[in-house]
Amino acid sequence: MRAVLIAIYPGSFDPLTNGHLDIIERGIKIFDHLIVGVLKNPHKQPLFTPEERKEMIQETVKCFTNVEVDVFDGLLVNFAREKKCQVIIRGLRAISDYEYETQIAVINRKMAPEIETLFLPTSTEFSYLNSTIVKEIASFGGCIRGLVPPAVEKKLRDKFSKNAPWGILSE
Ligand code: PNS
Repeated sequence: MRAVLIAIYPGSFDPLTNGHLDIIERGIKIFDHLIVGVLKNPHKQPLFTPEERKEMIQETVKCFTNVEVDVFDGLLVNFAREKKCQVIIRGLRAISDYEYETQIAVINRKMAPEIETLFLPTSTEFSYLNSTIVKEIASFGGCIRGLVPPAVEKKLRDKFSKNAPWGILSE
């Protein structure tokens, strides 16, 4: 009998986009169990707290039985070991992501040789998308439908409608 394959998909997810969701949906077809690891990064000032980011992801992936969402801090490889993950998944949007991602993969492999990194190319429709762009659009009241899952769209609307003179985001 083969071992249960567990992968971790780590990131800041501030917030989750449909590009991230695409990677999750493809990842669960490959692995028995997928852990979405939300980084609590002391060096970054995120829009959403780690718990808010976790809740939005949980709401979005609740239809999948083999996805778990967890917050972590410190080294990714320590968390991956703790969770018994054999593989780290990262999405590659463009060739420009490759250098940075390879650097992280090589360093992680040096620290934890038993854990492999698997790169999944992002589906072309999401190759332009990232969390920063989504926040920028939302902060100016632009339409973010189709860029993020509904649970994230609602949270972004709530977040920005409080301060925005235009009220809610445009449809
Ligand atoms: O979504 P992001 O911000 O590109 O994700 C980056 C992430 C979470 C994969 C990376 O910053 C990370 O793993 N941080 C945890 C600290 C760590 O393990 N650092 C050593 C490798 S860079």
